[in-house]
Amino acid sequence: MVSPGRLPPPSVDVRASAKINLHLGVGAAREDGFHPLVTVYQAIGLHDELVATEDSVLRVVTHGAAYVEVADVPVGEDNIVARATALMAARVGRDAVADFLVHKEIPVAGGMAGGSADAAAALLALDRLWDAQTPDDELLALAAELGSDVPFALIGGTALGTGRGELVTPVPDGGPWWWVVVPSAAGGLSTPAVYRRFDEMFPGADAEPAPADALLAALATSDPHRLGAVLRNDLQEPALDLRPDLGDLLDLGETEGAIRGLVSGSGPTCLFLAESPTAAHALAVALRGHGHEVVLVAAGPVPGAQVVEVG
Ligand code: C5P
Repeated sequence: MVSPGRLPPPSVDVRASAKINLHLGVGAAREDGFHPLVTVYQAIGLHDELVATEDSVLRVVTHGAAYVEVADVPVGEDNIVARATALMAARVGRDAVADFLVHKEIPVAGGMAGGSADAAAALLALDRLWDAQTPDDELLALAAELGSDVPFALIGGTALGTGRGELVTPVPDGGPWWWVVVPSAAGGLSTPAVYRRFDEMFPGADAEPAPADALLAALATSDPHRLGAVLRNDLQEPALDLRPDLGDLLDLGETEGAIRGLVSGSGPTCLFLAESPTAAHALAVALRGHGHEVVLVAAGPVPGAQVVEVG
C-alpha cells in the first residue's frame, strides 16, 4: 500500500532469457574441479522476469508458471538473487537490501540456466536501481563470480563460450531458429551430478574440448538441416545415463518430425530443432498428444537481460 501523497519506492523491471547450448564440448576436469568448455550458447524466447524495488531489508519472493518447481529454488543466502545482491552491494559500498519479485518461466535445474538468468537480471536491476553505472566489463566479471553461465545471460544473442563457460564472445547467427522445448515433468537434474557422471563415463577425456567450427559454419547458413547435423552436447550421454526416460522422448520427437532432438545443457529439459514455426507448432501438438503436458515453442536468438521498465 502506498500512502496518499507518498511516491512509491523506485523499482526496476528486468527480463532475462533462457539459454541453450548448440555445441557443448567438455574437456577433462581442471585442477579446480571445473571442466574446460568450448560451447556455443544461444538465448531463446523463454524468460524470467524480476522486479527489484528499494527496501530496507532483503526479500526475494519467487513464483512461476505451473510447470516450474519454485519449491526447488534455494532460499536465504544461497539464493542466487541474494548472492548477486551481496556482490553488487559490496562493489558499490551499500547495504545488501532490496525487495525482489521473481517470476519464472525457465525450468529450475533444467539445463537452461534459469538461475543464471535471475542472477544477471538482479545485477542489471541493482545497477540501475542504485545508479551504479557499472562498466560492462566489470558487470561481466561480477557475473562470472556468480556462475559460469551468468555472463552469457547478460549478453544473450548467440555467443562462443570458453574457459569454464564464463568467457563469452558474440558470434554471427543466421537464425531465427525454431525450438520445441519439453521441460521435465519428473524434477530437475543437478549440474554437478551430471559433470560427475561425465567424469565416471569418460575417464580418458581429452583436456581440450571439441572445437565448435562446424557449428559456427552451420549457424551462418540459415539452413536448419545443416544446423541439425552438427548440434553436439557432450553432457547428453551422462544426462541420459541418469535419466534414461529422456532417450525415449528424444526418439519420439525425431519420429514426429523434429530435425534433431537434443538434451539442453546438463538436462533434463529436451529440445527439438524444427524446420519452421509451423513445423514447431505441429510437433508441439504431436508431443502433447503423446501425453507430454508442457511443450513450449521458442525462437532464438533473442537478447540477454534487458530493463523493460523503470518505476
Ligand atoms: O559455475 P556454476 O555455478 O554454474 O557451476 C555449477 C557446477 O557445475 C560447478 O560447481 C561444477 O560442479 C559444474 N561445472 C563444471 N564445469 C563447468 C561449469 C560447471 O564442472 N565448466
